[in-house]
Formats: sequence, C-alpha cells, structure tokens
Amino acid sequence: MTTPTRKSVTVPMLQVMKSAGEKIVMVTAYDSTFARIVDDAGVDAILVGDSVATVMQGHTNTIPVTLTEMAYHTALVRRAQPKALVVGDLPFGSYQVGAGQGIESSIVLMKAGAQCVKLEGGTTVATTIEAITRSDIPVMGHIGLTPQSVHRMGGHKVQGRQDGVEPGGRQRLLDDAHAVEQAGAFAVVLEGIPTELAQEITSKISIPTIGIGAGLFCDGQVLVMHDILGLSERELTFTKKYIDMKSLATYAFQEFAQDVRNGSWPDDKHSFH
Ligand code: KIV
Repeated sequence: MTTPTRKSVTVPMLQVMKSAGEKIVMVTAYDSTFARIVDDAGVDAILVGDSVATVMQGHTNTIPVTLTEMAYHTALVRRAQPKALVVGDLPFGSYQVGAGQGIESSIVLMKAGAQCVKLEGGTTVATTIEAITRSDIPVMGHIGLTPQSVHRMGGHKVQGRQDGVEPGGRQRLLDDAHAVEQAGAFAVVLEGIPTELAQEITSKISIPTIGIGAGLFCDGQVLVMHDILGLSERELTFTKKYIDMKSLATYAFQEFAQDVRNGSWPDDKHSFH
C-alpha cells in the first residue's frame, strides 16, 4: 500500500521522470475496484485502454469498442479518485476521420474523467495530435504494433523488423516516433517492436517512451491488468502473469458451489435470527 501523502501524478511529471532516469509504470484498469487496487499499488498512470474490448467485452480485437463505452469505463476509473494519471484511450473510429473528430472525441473522454488521451499512429495522425494538444488536451502517442491496425498488419505482429519507410518498416517507426514528438505528444507507447529499435527511439526523442513488448530500455513499461493477474485468455509472449488469479477465483467459486450443494452455506454465523 502507498502512503496517503502520495502526490497526484501529472502530465509534466512524466517528463521529469524521464530526465531523472526514473522508470514510469502504467497499468490498465477499466473499473473503480481495480483502479483503486492498481492505484494503491503505486503505479504512475492508469490506462483505460481500448483493450477493454478483448479482456472484458470478449471481442477478438479492439475495433468494436465505442467512444461511449470508453467514456463509461473512464468515468468508472475516475470515480476511484486515483493519484495515478488517468489516460483515456481513443477507440477506433473516434479520430480517424480527422483532427476535428479527434478533438471532439478527446473532449468526451476528458469530461468523463481522463487527464489526457492516447491514440494510435505516427506520421499519419500527426496533424490530429497537434490539433488535440492545441486544445490543451495532452496526448500520449502509440506506435509499432498498433492493435487498431490489426487488419492492415495481418494480425498482431511485431513491427520494425524489416528496413523501410512503409508502415511497419524500421525507418518508418523512427519517423513515426519523431512525428509524434514534433506534433506535441507528451509521451509515446512503443508496442511490439525489437528491443534495439525501442532503445534507439528512446535515446533519440525527448519525450518518455512507455514500452510493451519493446524490451528493457524504454523510459517506462505498461501491461494489461488481466495479463498481470492471469485472468486473460490471451497468450502473448511479451506479457507476464504475476499471479494466477483465474485459478484462485475458480477455486473460490467451486468452494461456494460445494458449500451450497452440501448444505453448509449459509452457516449460523452468517444467518439472521
Ligand atoms: O489498450 C491498451 O491496453 C493499450 C496498451 C496495450 C498499451 O493500448
């Protein structure tokens, strides 16, 4: 548990952390209960990720989740009043039309309780990032294996392994990182790219990089809550199960079912007279 005196994490603080060489820790959460738990654990940022589509809504990718649903989950996380920075994830279809749509969608998430927004893409969304930041809404970029581009990539595939300036090429990822930085993003998620490329990007841009499947040399790391807890059906090599909560939960439910069926629940201690 963290002390009650823990300071609220702000957008500028992440830049200070990069400069001081302090690692940034981000975890996803989608509701008040878990937002409180991850916040008590002392993470720096809570990402209300569009991964909610896969880990909570049962979809096979993040495409279906809507802006209304993302605003709902953002509001649930905000209700936990976390000290951690709350990052609202712009879902597919909420900014691809253009900068104006990006600003409007970002406003929806900010009003729901986000303190900044995240969106996927590099050079192609630079003008949108610029427009949103000009509206005083801080933006976190996200490049590399961008799950909203699953159909272009032909699956959730590691990016930046080949040279080239086409999407997924090594040089393109360097260009994307610079574009996101130049557009005014305050940080960028690097997902599913080789360690060496993430290290190069981290050394070449001034804003913090937060990695997932991007090796050790990013300024911070992010993982999806369900993967950490062992609640995920996903089998990804770049995540780590820190606890097998699925087995623990199954055990608890089986015990309850057994107690009900053999007539030992509720016992007298848990009954009224
Ligand atoms: O939605 C999400 O959880 C994400 C992380 C994987 C970075 O975008």
